[in-house]
Amino acid sequence: MRLTALLILVIWLNSVPCAAADESAADLFAGKCARCHTFGHGRKKGPDLKKVADWDLDRIHRQVVKMQRKAGHLSEQEIAGLTTYVKEEAQKCAQEAPPK
Ligand code: HEC
Repeated sequence: MRLTALLILVIWLNSVPCAAADESAADLFAGKCARCHTFGHGRKKGPDLKKVADWDLDRIHRQVVKMQRKAGHLSEQEIAGLTTYVKEEAQKCAQEAPPK
């Protein structure tokens, strides 16, 4: 059921312009995740998250759940928001990256 909710959220997010991506998840990422991760700006303490662009949501979700060890407790809602946010940002980044 949780996955279904995530899929609905992703479909909804994909129907609005990039700039309107979930703002609370963006804040959360900036506050709790950005010190270790970037999207397309190389690795910090953690890997560059642009590589998760083609991971399925379930796999990203499991990783975000694990990240609580590093980032502190997150609510179900925060985890769901971050999961779709990470996927969205990684995909944007994959689209914008110049061909190598
Ligand atoms: C203290 C540093 C640190 C913080 C804070 C952190 N991460 Fe990570 N993250 C890592 C490291 C190191 C890995 C590598 C694999 C592992 O440890 O599971 C990782 C792996 C990941 C992965 C899987 C990517 C891969 O290549 O394995 C995702 C997705 C992710 N983190 C998301 C997040 C999110 C979302 C947050 C904020 C809630 C967050 N991380 C906070 C260090 C961090």
